Amino acid sequence: MEPFGIALLGCGTVGTGVAKMLLEHPDRLTARAGRKLELRRIVVDDAKKPRPSGIPSSLFTTNLRAVIDDPAVQVVVEVVGGIDWAKQAVLDLLAAGKHIVTANKALLATHGGEIFDAGRRHGQAIAFEASVGGGIPIIGALCQGLAANQILSLQGILNGTCNYILTCMTENGCSYADMLADAQRKGYAEADPTMDVDGTDSAHKLAILVQIAFGVALPLSAIQRRGIAGIDLLDIRFAKELGYTIKLLAEAWLEPAACGLAPHAKPQSAKCDQLAMHVSPVMLRQNAPLALVRDAYNALFVVGDAVGSTLYYGRGAGQMPTASAVVADLIDMAVGRAQQTFRSLKLWSGNHRNIVVRDPSTMRSRFYLRMMVEDRPGVMADITRILANHQISIASVIQHEALEHADGESEIVPLIIMTHTVPTGSFRAALDEIDRLVSVRPPSVYYPVGD
Ligand code: NDP
Ligand code: HSE
Repeated sequence: MEPFGIALLGCGTVGTGVAKMLLEHPDRLTARAGRKLELRRIVVDDAKKPRPSGIPSSLFTTNLRAVIDDPAVQVVVEVVGGIDWAKQAVLDLLAAGKHIVTANKALLATHGGEIFDAGRRHGQAIAFEASVGGGIPIIGALCQGLAANQILSLQGILNGTCNYILTCMTENGCSYADMLADAQRKGYAEADPTMDVDGTDSAHKLAILVQIAFGVALPLSAIQRRGIAGIDLLDIRFAKELGYTIKLLAEAWLEPAACGLAPHAKPQSAKCDQLAMHVSPVMLRQNAPLALVRDAYNALFVVGDAVGSTLYYGRGAGQMPTASAVVADLIDMAVGRAQQTFRSLKLWSGNHRNIVVRDPSTMRSRFYLRMMVEDRPGVMADITRILANHQISIASVIQHEALEHADGESEIVPLIIMTHTVPTGSFRAALDEIDRLVSVRPPSVYYPVGD
């Protein structure tokens, strides 16, 4: 059988891993694909940049046309990242009759509809296993292994950079800035790491999963998101004292209009028609399975109506785990499986279920609340009165003794309140009032509690 011709767009962290795999394991890959996977071109931006040894320099070009015009290139791997250039390149390549493998979740989450339409129009397939969960085969699990189910909920850690930062802050008291720089050095972070730490990357991945699991194409703005940027070691320590760990979670779950109970792995019934979603730091009990996911690992709970609860775990970022997912897609393309899946699934086709996105203010949760307050009489009473006015019941309170100030002025101390389950909207309204008290130094910090 003739070789399967491949071109790479991008030879950074992921592209280098893909090139290495293709060049270092030809026999293994030929056996799995039934034909030779032949790397013919690598398109990069900077012709002068030194490239990893072991990748022939003759493969590199800065000219996309060299790929478009090469009839022997059948599939192109887009691992450039970003949106504008990547989108135009993918559309041009589809029009030129090339299949696409991409790891670019930002591109799919924002332009999935246009790109998949172009794929269908030109009779080409798009595979994207590496776009969510790094090396974890979660796209394959949802598209194939769980195909018989109505998915009821998704709950996971989908950003390796954030999990890496949080792990070291929690276990060793490392600084946020140091760990972010370390994640960048290790190749986990996006070119613009703001996307990682503000929750956007997790939201991109959640949007892709929601498209497959629930058949809904959502604008990113439909996913309420908070990240871990600026997370304070103080909250990580208080979480620990209370028996919790803070993790950045992406969650989506179906529920009946009337119930709205906790986001945290509480699927309701297959007949539900409301979709609740968010990306947020969540306090998880220290022994909860997702609380035990460390470093750049990702994990995802998927609950299906027939299968029940399933869990997927593995390295969510980094060179070789991501290359593993990309090369698996290439093998599927060479065999023809990816083309069949692409045709039959009709993702981003506009043929969606009629699911309503749930108003985030109606979602119910317990909350952790840290206020910086003056240590003087009446402060606690003011705060508890506001909470009571909003029907918010307190589960526990922590305030450690302050050291006496020499000049007799009130000390500012952290006051921690854990609430019982309340609607998010009531909690936020109470918080706005609390932050207007003269005895409180805003903004107070809050996280949903998942248990
Ligand atoms: P890098 O920044 O390491 O590499 C980007 C590559 O794209 C570089 O080789 C760069 O060229 C090339 N490039 C950028 N712009 C252009 C352009 N205009 N024309 C041609 N080439 C261009 O990115 P990563 O490898 O980390 O990520 C790539 C994609 O994979 C992103 O979409 C990312 O979200 C996704 N991803 C990344 C993971 C990770 O762990 N890093 C995991 C899962 C997905 P040059 O080398 O000349 O600068
Ligand atoms: N920046 C991403 C992360 C890469 O840290 O998870 C994997 O998608």
